[in-house]
Amino acid sequence: MNDDTSLERKLRMRSARIAVVGLGYAGLPMAVEFARAGFVCVGLDVDPYKVKAISGGLSPVSNVGDDEIASLRADHVLEASSDPRVLDAADAAVICVPTPLTPNNGPDLRFVEAAGATIGEHLHAGMLVVLQSTCGPGTTARVLRPLLESVSGLRAGDDFFLVFAPERIDPGNTRYTVKNTPKLVGGLTPESTRLGCLLYEACIEEVVPVGSPEVAELAKLVENTFRFINISFVNEMALLCDRLGVNVWEVIEAAKTKPFAFMPHYPSPGVGGHCIPVVPQYLQAAAREHGLLGELIPAANRINEAMPKLVVDKLERALEERAGKRLLNANVLLVGITYKPDIADIRESAALRVFLEAFSRGARVRYHDPLMPIVNLAGELIASVELDPIDLGVMDAVVLLTPHTGIDYDRIIRAAPLVIDTHSGLTPREAPNVVNIWVPEALAATPALS
Ligand SMILES: NC(=O)c1ccc[n+]([C@@H]2O[C@H](COP(=O)([O-])OP(=O)(O)OC[C@H]3O[C@@H](n4cnc5c(N)ncnc54)[C@H](O)[C@@H]3O)[C@@H](O)[C@H]2O)c1
Repeated sequence: MNDDTSLERKLRMRSARIAVVGLGYAGLPMAVEFARAGFVCVGLDVDPYKVKAISGGLSPVSNVGDDEIASLRADHVLEASSDPRVLDAADAAVICVPTPLTPNNGPDLRFVEAAGATIGEHLHAGMLVVLQSTCGPGTTARVLRPLLESVSGLRAGDDFFLVFAPERIDPGNTRYTVKNTPKLVGGLTPESTRLGCLLYEACIEEVVPVGSPEVAELAKLVENTFRFINISFVNEMALLCDRLGVNVWEVIEAAKTKPFAFMPHYPSPGVGGHCIPVVPQYLQAAAREHGLLGELIPAANRINEAMPKLVVDKLERALEERAGKRLLNANVLLVGITYKPDIADIRESAALRVFLEAFSRGARVRYHDPLMPIVNLAGELIASVELDPIDLGVMDAVVLLTPHTGIDYDRIIRAAPLVIDTHSGLTPREAPNVVNIWVPEALAATPALS
């Protein structure tokens, strides 16, 4: 390839133009980091709302601030467009599009394939293509590579460089950001890996080359599945401790005193977000494709999916024991419905499953979430209600789910007749109307799960 030295020089001089394809929770923070490092970065997105927001100096995602976008726009280092022709002038294209699941829980690569086809149409010799979207082993080499080659007529490794560098962002995490979370880089060829490393070294503190795209693809799947399975284990312990009349949080604190070979995980109403419940299914699909049963992931899934039901069981029991009421027709307010605190993202949120479970048992369910003024639940638009003391007073129960920092919990506890707290079991809120679902003496144990 005769253009490789030119790409290397541009990366070293920070004169390369970088295109980020997909400007969501993962892509926009990455684009910001490239722009901060001095590259001119152009974001390409099919969503005109996102392009308009960024062009106007606003951030369309809650893990990037408006001020950040406005300042990079003012410095002319960040652009946004929905015109794929911006790829013609790009030296590198970084794909950050969604990788959800199909209705059968299999990998849905439609967005990766669409982005690959678009890049293929504008691919030129010497260009670097990076896939950051989470995907199964072999996607870079066996799905993206042939697509790019067939659309462009160019050959990976000879005419252009191809790399997998998994996205590891944790939105809302202020300690570990794009900049200080190590970046894995697995290229199709050693030269692809070398140039991929050069790109990221400009803006990420630690860049780790690995032997192949498959190693990087699997590393990402292993990280998230490790968490998914450990959460399911602790959730199963929560169910057991509930029967035994033991506070599972105290058990975890006790186990945590071992200084080696134990990592604490905590029970919750369930797992949510675009990664933890989704990514293990990519690993499961790979296991099945290669003739393995893959038994752990389905078992973990069943346990995690039982947690919203446990919360509603506890709600039902609290209403009966504390207020002599039934869940049927009870007015229930859920507080915090995003999948994690302080992030405006409801994808796969366990709180929404609590909503649907309580609703299916006949409760009149509403929610309060300052980050989500409206949600579309099973095709119906539902608006967040305000925490008005009068409205709180007419609720039969308020369930504290996702613990956003800005919510006035004292106000809720003062005004609501019954509060079901699913937050920490170690520091339960002390008030006669509060039931903490992890504290054994708060309620009788739940009956066996069906
Ligand atoms: N959100 C996270 O916390 C997180 C963490 C780690 C990894 N990831 C991975 O990062 C990837 C992206 O996730 P996300 O959360 O940023 O998704 P997102 O939905 O927030 O953003 C994806 C963006 O891609 C755009 N898009 C879709 N198809 C496109 C196309 N053909 N061309 C251009 N733009 C297109 C969408 O309009 C959207 O703006 C996924 O593979 C995900 O697993 C996400």
